[in-house]
Amino acid sequence: MADKTFKLNTGAEIPALGLGTWQGEPGKVKSAVAHALKNGYKLIDCAYCYGNEDEVGEGLAEAFASGVKREDVFIMTKVWATYNTRVELGLEKSLKALGLDYVDLYLVHWPLLLNPEGNDDRFPKLPDGSRDVIHGWDHREAWKQMEALVNSGKVKAIGVCNYSKKYLEELLPVAKIVPAINQIENHPALPQTEIVDLCKEKGIHIVAYSPLGSTGSPLQTAEPVVKLAEKKGVSPVTILLSHHVARGHTVLAKSVNPDRITANKNIVDLDADDLKLLDDYSAEIVSKKEWKRYVYPPFGVQFGFPDKS
Ligand SMILES: NC(=O)c1ccc[n+]([C@@H]2O[C@H](COP(=O)([O-])OP(=O)(O)OC[C@H]3O[C@@H](n4cnc5c(N)ncnc54)[C@H](OP(=O)(O)O)[C@@H]3O)[C@@H](O)[C@H]2O)c1
Repeated sequence: MADKTFKLNTGAEIPALGLGTWQGEPGKVKSAVAHALKNGYKLIDCAYCYGNEDEVGEGLAEAFASGVKREDVFIMTKVWATYNTRVELGLEKSLKALGLDYVDLYLVHWPLLLNPEGNDDRFPKLPDGSRDVIHGWDHREAWKQMEALVNSGKVKAIGVCNYSKKYLEELLPVAKIVPAINQIENHPALPQTEIVDLCKEKGIHIVAYSPLGSTGSPLQTAEPVVKLAEKKGVSPVTILLSHHVARGHTVLAKSVNPDRITANKNIVDLDADDLKLLDDYSAEIVSKKEWKRYVYPPFGVQFGFPDKS
């Protein structure tokens, strides 16, 4: 299962499982990346905004020095919202920090503009402490700049993150290139079925983030997850990760703990009955509007997510 891949709309293959690096702590994320790649991971998810691409780059260099081949690894990173009007500059900064000539996938991290001339490179704030957002900016502008990168040789493909159905429906009619992926928060407590269905229809691959419920992995204790884990004789984490792969999606799990990184490679087959258990749980959460979105920066922008409108 560790070598399983899915085909993107570019024809390239993307691994089914990747290592996340958000909140990959300083002093730990280098060895986490190196450990993952030396132990069979083929996908690393990065972002300028995580502030650790230098150290992730050191981990990549260690893995390459040990014999892992660049062309066998799929690396994706993201343009941060202060760079959405300067996408190429954002890419150059990430490539330099990561020590790479190209990335396999470059993504719009969030469809909004944070003041490029604000009081911080990544998280500019107004005097009242709120985020320095340029309201009224059209998110499709960033996509035009993304499209212009495709022939540069510095990105093999482009995609988006955190695009709601509403935002995709605004983007797709003007897009010359259909995004290869939409990287979204996705787990049984936030199924986002309306986005998943639209992406499927348009040939946009889903990459699930925060599959364990992000910091502290709270979804491990969700009752149906625990039940299914007992039935299959695996850990709840294995269920939460396998859930995506069984549905044809890529899943990203973050850990800086070598044992957990290795354990998270354990993806098992889930059959229709297993998936139904989790789907029923999701349907109940949606019907009661008890979604859990763990990652939602306080931008003060309506992105069109039903759980936030
Ligand atoms: N595009 C976006 O806007 C966006 C947003 C959020 C995340 N992401 C990407 O998706 C990745 C994954 O999401 P995430 O980091 O939010 O959360 P996650 O992967 O759902 O959960 C990470 C948490 O689970 C713990 N953990 C990992 N494996 C475990 C295991 N086997 N047993 C017990 N605990 C375990 C980690 O701790 P330890 O490290 O201590 O093991 C960490 O506290 C991110 O790192 C990032 O690359 C993208």
